[in-house]
Amino acid sequence: MGAVAEALLRLSGVGKRFGGVIALEGVDLEVNPGEIASVIGPNGAGKTTLFNVMTGAITATAGAIEFAGRPIGGLRPYRIVRLGLARTFQNIRLFHSLTVREHFRLAQHAAARRGESREAGATRMNELLDVLDLRAAADRPATDLSYGQQRRVEIGRALATAPKLLLLDEPVAGMSREETGAIAALLRRLRERGLTILLIEHDMSFVMDLCDSVTVLDFGNVIACGEPAQIQREPHVLEAYLGREATSA
Ligand SMILES: Nc1ncnc2c1ncn2[C@@H]1O[C@H](COP(=O)(O)OP(=O)(O)OP(=O)(O)O)[C@@H](O)[C@H]1O
Ligand SMILES: [Mg+2]
Repeated sequence: MGAVAEALLRLSGVGKRFGGVIALEGVDLEVNPGEIASVIGPNGAGKTTLFNVMTGAITATAGAIEFAGRPIGGLRPYRIVRLGLARTFQNIRLFHSLTVREHFRLAQHAAARRGESREAGATRMNELLDVLDLRAAADRPATDLSYGQQRRVEIGRALATAPKLLLLDEPVAGMSREETGAIAALLRRLRERGLTILLIEHDMSFVMDLCDSVTVLDFGNVIACGEPAQIQREPHVLEAYLGREATSA
């Protein structure tokens, strides 16, 4: 596959140290256009750090990051957003008193779609509210929303920047089975519309049902990468999750 399709995102030998802590080491990762890719791994494996270096929140100490055919290592976060790479955070970060619509409008401005007419902006806003099932809540402040709705506002805020690649850090953490199913359906709809997605999740059934590819991180290193069915059978992946004793017994 790799020989035919040009990867949308490519990391080569990416490393990150925090003092004596090696959070990432020699990470290679490719995300192909139109796929839902995922990164899994135990707590502290380096997953969020990986998103932080991709989005310019922190700078990698080694390696190269290419997005849509150009190097983005060292670029400021707002420039990376404008190139089409948007993210959500592991913990909800909304402005309590701002409405859903206000959150989306701010994000649209941040992405600075020059020359977009008021009508086109309004159409995009309505599409966003519809795809996220937030039309009825559009003018309510974030603090009035359910947890599931707040999570969808976070996703909507990233989508409002019109990304090519959407990064989601644990999008279904703390959600009910029903809310999780709604997010899976939403992400499938977005993939059908041509969006590429890279997500971090601990919910294995969610990952295995939804994702086209899985990369496994353990102690900052990629220990496996492939299709979900194949990854589930890898003994060293099970070992990383279940602990060394459990699998050697
Ligand atoms: N800003 C920072 N300063 C110092 N150490 C950090 C910093 N950010 C992350 N780390 C360390 O880097 C390692 C990887 O952390 P990271 O948050 O990326 O893990 P994670 O895979 O996202 O874990 P979780 O599943 O719990 O969210 C951990 O040892 C963490 O303590
Ligand atoms: Mg994390």
